[in-house]
Amino acid sequence: MNESESRIEKLIGSLQQALFKRIEKQERTNRKLINQVYTQMESLFWLEKRLALKNQLPPLRGWATSPDVLLKMHSHIIETKPKCIVEFGSGASTVVIADALRQNGVGKLYSFDNSEEFGAKTLKNLELESLENWVELDVSELVEWEGDHMNPEHQNNSSLWYNIESLQQVKDIDFVWVDGPPGNSCKYSRFPALPAVKSQLAKAAQVWMDDTIREEEYEICERWSELVNGALTFFELEKGLGVLVVSEELSALERTTSSVERESKSVVSRLDFGKK
Ligand SMILES: C[S@@+](CC[C@H](N)C(=O)[O-])C[C@H]1O[C@@H](n2cnc3c(N)ncnc32)[C@H](O)[C@@H]1O
Repeated sequence: MNESESRIEKLIGSLQQALFKRIEKQERTNRKLINQVYTQMESLFWLEKRLALKNQLPPLRGWATSPDVLLKMHSHIIETKPKCIVEFGSGASTVVIADALRQNGVGKLYSFDNSEEFGAKTLKNLELESLENWVELDVSELVEWEGDHMNPEHQNNSSLWYNIESLQQVKDIDFVWVDGPPGNSCKYSRFPALPAVKSQLAKAAQVWMDDTIREEEYEICERWSELVNGALTFFELEKGLGVLVVSEELSALERTTSSVERESKSVVSRLDFGKK
């Protein structure tokens, strides 16, 4: 073999190696995607078995809550029988929560949405299932948020939040589901969810945040856990889920001395969250 032939052979060898690496990487990605799809199908299968609906759920891709979270949430509500639930960002989750409340035979969901279009769709879906009496659906424009915020531009350019006047008389909120408002309303748009209802939380209330694979939602959960001294766990579900369990003693303290600032001692744990 002459010199140029051996150079060509080397070149072919390294091209082959690069190609094999590429194929292996693509195969790993494909296996991961197939697993993800399978997991969602499996969750949807079990979710449908547990729901007592006459019709079908709205589509569960894109903006909707993923089947894995909906299944976990439905089971949580059936197990814990919350009397009072607040939801920020309505949709498929509203129907699933209302279904669980109806199966429990007790409880009320206060759901907030800022979009007339999507709020109307939610109401229609509830009515199709005769679930509207389990939900107070409040659809109105976002308003200026007066409290502290994580949005760095908050001082100069007020951040927005749902108009929650209708929640004023509501006490002992057991469960809060945070899936709105959309991120284009301002930076860290979901941050006010906890401060907005902090003084109305029941003992050991749980606050669940969707989409914690996004940095903003992840950071908000960490800040919340400092605010209420709660135990925070991140679950590696399709879009990531943050679950904050508010400390019993401190939520009681919060209800009686809401103006007193406390030192924070949060407990943060991550379940298999390699990425972060
Ligand atoms: C993340 S979505 C809430 C999804 C809801 N929790 C569910 O399970 O379907 C947040 C808000 O986005 C709006 N929204 C819902 N679907 C949308 C879409 N396809 N395009 C734009 N906005 C949408 C609604 O106003 C909704 O409250």
